[in-house]
Amino acid sequence: MGSILCDSISSKASCDSISTKAYCDSISTKACDGSSQEGETSLLELMSKEESIINVIDAEEEEVHDEGDDTMSIEMSGVVPIEKEDITVTWENLWVTVSSGKKKKSILQGLTGYASPGRILAIMGPSGCGKSTLLDCLSGRLSSKMKHTGKILINGQKQVLAYGTSGYVTQEDAMLSTLTTRETLYYSAQLQFPDSMSIAEKKEQADITLREMGLQGAINTRVGGWGSKGLSGGQKRRLSICIEILTKPRLLFLDEPTSGLDSAASYYVMSSISTLNLRDGIRRTIVASIHQPSSEVFELFHDLCLLSSGETVYFGPASEANQFFASNGFPCPTLHNPSDHYLRIINKDFEQDAEEGLGKGVSTENTIDNLIASYRMSQIRKQVKLEVGKIVENDSGATRKHRIHAAFPTQCLVLLKRSSLQFFRDISNYWLRLIVFIIIAISIGSIFYNIGTDEASIQARGSLLIFLVSVLTFMTLVGGFSPLLEDMKVFERERLNGHYGITAFLIGNIFSSVPYMLMISLIPGGIAYQLCGLHKGIDRFFYFSSVLFAIVMWVESLMLVIGSISPNFVIGMFIAGGVEGLMILTGGFYRLPNDLPKPLWKYPFYYVSFLKYAFQGSFKNDFDGLTFSVHQDGATKSMSGREVLVNTWHVEMSHSKWFDLAVMVGMILLYRVLFLVVTKCKEKLKPVVASFTRRP
Ligand SMILES: Nc1ncnc2c1ncn2[C@@H]1O[C@H](COP(=O)(O)OP(=O)(O)OP(=O)(O)O)[C@@H](O)[C@H]1O
Ligand SMILES: [Mg+2]
Repeated sequence: MGSILCDSISSKASCDSISTKAYCDSISTKACDGSSQEGETSLLELMSKEESIINVIDAEEEEVHDEGDDTMSIEMSGVVPIEKEDITVTWENLWVTVSSGKKKKSILQGLTGYASPGRILAIMGPSGCGKSTLLDCLSGRLSSKMKHTGKILINGQKQVLAYGTSGYVTQEDAMLSTLTTRETLYYSAQLQFPDSMSIAEKKEQADITLREMGLQGAINTRVGGWGSKGLSGGQKRRLSICIEILTKPRLLFLDEPTSGLDSAASYYVMSSISTLNLRDGIRRTIVASIHQPSSEVFELFHDLCLLSSGETVYFGPASEANQFFASNGFPCPTLHNPSDHYLRIINKDFEQDAEEGLGKGVSTENTIDNLIASYRMSQIRKQVKLEVGKIVENDSGATRKHRIHAAFPTQCLVLLKRSSLQFFRDISNYWLRLIVFIIIAISIGSIFYNIGTDEASIQARGSLLIFLVSVLTFMTLVGGFSPLLEDMKVFERERLNGHYGITAFLIGNIFSSVPYMLMISLIPGGIAYQLCGLHKGIDRFFYFSSVLFAIVMWVESLMLVIGSISPNFVIGMFIAGGVEGLMILTGGFYRLPNDLPKPLWKYPFYYVSFLKYAFQGSFKNDFDGLTFSVHQDGATKSMSGREVLVNTWHVEMSHSKWFDLAVMVGMILLYRVLFLVVTKCKEKLKPVVASFTRRP
């Protein structure tokens, strides 16, 4: 061990303050004389040394503070006095657990820390150690499967982070795939900036941000996604950051902002984020999880939170992490990237290192345990607890509730324009559906060509109408669910970051898709109607197309509801497919209404089935007013369409076809309201459910 630590004598070179130098010297001397044989013995000795030396550092810090240099005081004390509008986040004894079956797994274990204004807190640790979970927890976005206990306070108060006060760049990028880089940011700027700014000003801000993130070379490249290559992973990351730093929120969470970037790009991106504060004089609170920062990037961090398997290995000023590791027998070797060094020590995922314990004869598991124990007893931790206590006592009050952003009509208009553009460019959504539906319409037209009014046409008309309605129902689901989920992911991100609300989204979504739904119901519907020779008359065709339009609208509304509650695409497809299948089955064609078993299938399924109204409305529209020739008792007789409707199809003639259409419209509205309620409830109930499920 002594020889390893001897290597580190030169790490003194990286120690910059006088006190730190004294500290490094003491460690090196101790290590080099070879008196310590076992890591643990030296660890204890060094820990007690550490405490006394940190006291020296504290004393020196106070002296520096007294000199009146504000910046310096920020650097050294870790916590700055809270100014109006500043945001300080504190968390105490934070536990996050997830239940799998009867077992509970702790993902975060008793974390305590703070993020202060004007400083960048880096969360580091091996993959799976809980970085994203910590960010989700602090930003109030923990998944419903996870429960947290402990105190998370904003400016010393228990308050939900007001939408728009903070920005969160999540680990996963969620953007519309067919928009270009510039369009993505322009639309975002128009949604986020207030109406008092002109469009030109908003666009200028967007251009500046794009340049800051080095995206000027890719402004006209589409974002891309599944099946269509667009921006590279690193460019997407930078675009996601652009969207959130555009309006410069006071609290910024970044989950792996530099993943996919080379070291130079990572440095530019991080320094651009770190200088946000300097540029507008607002002291932002920035919390970023990061995997592998270069030495230069690491120097940009003020505070460091090192996690291993959800436990704190180190929390404190980034500049003092080296002393902590050195005091525990792991000084950073000369010319070594400190973050690489720390991560290597606390990674126990890989067998070889885990067993060999980095060549010190102690397994990595034990080393980490020792480091965690050492941190728990350290002066740094006491200091952190003290600072958290101070911040809570200070209680600087509630954060401003809302950021001023675009007015509601502007939001609706921008979302409408953006969705229209997305629909226009996305061939796999409406365009592909239109082509497939035209092919089906032509096929139906040739199979049921000129259907006539003989006895056989009664069954044929029924089959043709039911097939058209059913195929449209399923095709809308198959073609539309995936693009809708992409839209909803973007909506979720933007809503949680406070860019706009659910009502604006719904309005934008409905009105932008109407032209495409009309196209789908009119063109293929018209082809099938004409070729089959269904009931002549423009009014009849108008009703027929309205039913097709209502079906597409209903499926889209159903998908919205299911998309908002289903955890993923596959489950969503299964649920939506199952619901549609049941509604077709109980719609009154495959089993006639009077023959349906009364409990459950007739009451209530038949009456709540959207397709019951679609079937009956389109049957009334086609059969009513026609006369069919049927063979009865060896003679040919005439039978009115009404008789066919009542006797053959068991259609309820007590109300008109328009009533059926009205019920369909009502159901569409109901589904949309349901989506609104589900989304709002998820938002409002989350904190309530979380508080109920908290551990005592
Ligand atoms: N639903 C779940 N059930 C069980 N374990 C889970 C669940 N969700 C997350 N975890 C576990 O929680 C731990 C923390 O996950 P998290 O995503 O926060 O890690 P991370 O540090 O962000 O990793 P990375 O650096 O790879 O992004 C992981 O070990 C993960 O396996
Ligand atoms: Mg993560």
